Amino acid sequence: MITIKSDYELSLMREAGRIVYDTHKILKPYIKPGITTKELDKIAYEYIISRGATPSCLNYEGFPASICTSVNDVVVHGIPSDQKLKEGDIISIDICACYKGYHGDSAWSYKVGNVSKEKEYLLEHTEKALYEGLSKVKNGARLGDVSSAIEDYAVKHKLGVVRELVGHGVGSNLHEDPEVPNYGKKNTGIVLKTGMTIAIEPMLNLGIRKVYLLDDDWTIVTGDKKPSAHFEHTIVVTDDGYEILTGDDNYE
Ligand code: MF3
Ligand code: CO
Repeated sequence: MITIKSDYELSLMREAGRIVYDTHKILKPYIKPGITTKELDKIAYEYIISRGATPSCLNYEGFPASICTSVNDVVVHGIPSDQKLKEGDIISIDICACYKGYHGDSAWSYKVGNVSKEKEYLLEHTEKALYEGLSKVKNGARLGDVSSAIEDYAVKHKLGVVRELVGHGVGSNLHEDPEVPNYGKKNTGIVLKTGMTIAIEPMLNLGIRKVYLLDDDWTIVTGDKKPSAHFEHTIVVTDDGYEILTGDDNYE
């Protein structure tokens, strides 16, 4: 079931989104060679709690940490560990927070020091693919318009579009209907309505689109070991577009 959020619900989702966005801003200066992903997880946990929220990922279906830290060829759901970041790595940090029963969800990919031209390209175009998708969002548009815009942009830039994982509705549950694939056809799918809240999250690979699940039952890696990037915002559909709940828009 796809729900339309009330003004009150949206006010809670704005706060959840702000907490997620602020957590990204708190972590950013720590993303340097030598820090472990576990240390990043601890900083995020403490910050989210200090804001009166809880990290939605922690214990979600048994996930053992507060954030997902996905380095290089890890696509998503990397588990924070004693792995130290190195110069030239890229890392996607996926943060979800629950505030008074409502969730915000945003992933962003970062450079660790200087990275290769290829990785720069991947980050630039995965972020742009997110905004291509967002540009199609408004009351009355169809979900396939969003999905196909992301896919078309990725294909044009020769990036592999991950299909096994998708964006999703978000609200009082972290994952709600509808599913928001990063591939699809224009003029198909559900009609977006003002007040729907969704997380749009392209996961694009420098190489092939195929991905694998590691033995830890969480970590998803690329099939060819080439890097992958992930950018995600939680948004609310409006009459003439969208409002980002996990970014700068969300400050008066
Ligand atoms: N942002 C992730 C998603 O949309 C949430 C992962 S939480 C985890 O699927 F616990 F599953 F890692
Ligand atoms: Co998500």
